[in-house]
Amino acid sequence: MLKVVAEHPGAFYQHYPRVAAIVTVNSSGRKNAMAVAWHSSVSFKPPLYGISIAPKRYTYQLISESKQFGVNFVPYERAETIAAVGGSNGGVINKFSEFNIAEDKPVKTEVPILKDAYTAYECKVIENKVYGDHAWIIGEIVAVHMAENVFQENGMLDLSLIRPALYIGGETYCSTDKSTVKFLDREKYGKK
Ligand SMILES: Cc1cc2nc3c(=O)[nH]c(=O)nc-3n(C[C@H](O)[C@H](O)[C@H](O)COP(=O)(O)O)c2cc1C
Repeated sequence: MLKVVAEHPGAFYQHYPRVAAIVTVNSSGRKNAMAVAWHSSVSFKPPLYGISIAPKRYTYQLISESKQFGVNFVPYERAETIAAVGGSNGGVINKFSEFNIAEDKPVKTEVPILKDAYTAYECKVIENKVYGDHAWIIGEIVAVHMAENVFQENGMLDLSLIRPALYIGGETYCSTDKSTVKFLDREKYGKK
């Protein structure tokens, strides 16, 4: 593959698409939601999840106060909700009423769980460290919400039922195509 090389990456989107999620928070009744593309599982045991949030965000202030956050995964058909909460400031408007975002009840925290999410994690913050212009916030997953019948027995999402919302940068979203799914046994391929 022929490549060009940039020594100053600027805003680097080259590794996208990424699953776009919605982080939710509730600090003493002040609820908010924002879009995140920068998030990752960190550990199975204990179950840890990390989110990267710029300290200037209103959401960051609320997470710092409440030490809790939710990570909600809505399908591609709800990408407009991601764009809405990712394009507005919760310090100025109530995003839940403004964008008609319906909630389910959390079980172990106070964070809003989105009714439209096919899965959501409730997390309690264990670490918050600033790197450059973002903070990497790690939370222990204390509850997992899952839509019924959309996950297979092995825990994998059934892509014929749910299309994840992927963000490719530049305000552009896409999704997966079930026809691309292939099974590659790592044991078998690792021997070659
Ligand atoms: C698709 C998408 C992904 C985003 N990912 C992140 C992210 O990972 N971290 C971050 O700090 N901001 C991210 N943003 C920006 C915030 O969602 C945005 O600034 C939001 O308005 C913050 O809300 P708040 O001011 O109510 O906290 C993203 C925005 C979009 C649209």
